[in-house]
Amino acid sequence: MNAQPHRKLAVMPGDGIGGEVMAATLDVLERLRDRHELPLAWDELEWPATDWHRRHGVMMPEDALDQLTCYDALLLGALGDPGPSSDPNRYLLPDGISLAPLLTLRKGFDLWACERPARLLPGAPQYLADPRAAEVDMMVIRENSEGEYVNQGGRVHRGTEREVATQLEVFTRPAAERLIRHAFERARQRAEARAQPRTFTRPDGNTAAAQVCLITKRNALPHWGELYTEVFAEIAREYPDVATHHELVDAACMKFVQCPWIFDVVVASNLQGDILTDLAAVLSGGMGVAPSININPDTRDYPALFEPTHGSAPDIAGQNKADPRAMMLTAAELLDWLGTEETVFARAASELRAAVAADLSAQTAGAVRSTDQISAAIIESLPA
Ligand code: IPM
Ligand code: MN
Repeated sequence: MNAQPHRKLAVMPGDGIGGEVMAATLDVLERLRDRHELPLAWDELEWPATDWHRRHGVMMPEDALDQLTCYDALLLGALGDPGPSSDPNRYLLPDGISLAPLLTLRKGFDLWACERPARLLPGAPQYLADPRAAEVDMMVIRENSEGEYVNQGGRVHRGTEREVATQLEVFTRPAAERLIRHAFERARQRAEARAQPRTFTRPDGNTAAAQVCLITKRNALPHWGELYTEVFAEIAREYPDVATHHELVDAACMKFVQCPWIFDVVVASNLQGDILTDLAAVLSGGMGVAPSININPDTRDYPALFEPTHGSAPDIAGQNKADPRAMMLTAAELLDWLGTEETVFARAASELRAAVAADLSAQTAGAVRSTDQISAAIIESLPA
């Protein structure tokens, strides 16, 4: 028996395809748990969810954060329109209500870094024609606690011709410093973990095995853009082994399409990171295979939140069509997070990733497979 105290997860399927991809992922987690005797347990919660709102008038209980603090991590499927889109009478909430728990959890637990790795696994759809796009291997680290998402501002003279809306953005030096330092740390770790070294050119002509690219829109939004630029330069001096780079967000969008293989770690504001990570998800094969994690790299005092980049996909909800692999790859990130001090979690994570990769490379291009078929194939290819 394993004497380790159990890690406890709150499993929150949420809305739409969330339930389907979560069920598939739990099957896989159960297999891994049994095989490795992982000290892992979970509670499945009915909230946050639109259906909970239908029954209780709120997306989650008032004391949700208190109830969740006892968990080591939260695994969330998706929130939003529960679908099916074909049912015009379904219980549907404004986005601002159904998606609010995401932001409440991220902010309430101070999960200030959102990491979205984008690597094109062999067999995943490659949307760009240039063969070099197969080499995409980047990680976008998105500021997750402030910036454009502080939700401050308001509307006056509603509905009149004089109506005004303000939406404040807030950028603090401490948030910039911790985020950018984390980006450099990750860049180093990624370089160390890479089987095949990569080479990035530094301004002095020397090369480095890792790179961090800062994203701003400092030509039009100079206040925070310059703050971030200064903090980036200060912290970069502590990491002479890491190449640095800056892109304006609009140019970054262009280069993500034109030459995405030049990027390694990309660090961006909350909103700009949000937009770039939908694009990055497509570069790695689409939303169906794009994992995402919300963490506080400095502390385990609060649970981290693991939810794929995708949403509730109401157009395919309930039809056994959702790709569970983004959720599974997100669960692999979760196992890694839980396993920093325990190799057994890390082993389970790499087996899960290998099973997803094997499934991707075995799939016939263009073939349509159900959630159940994908999930059965992945379970099949896990070591017995
Ligand atoms: C995401 C989503 C959320 C975000 C929405 C649903 C609030 O798009 O996780 O990327 O903007 O962060
Ligand atoms: Mn998004």
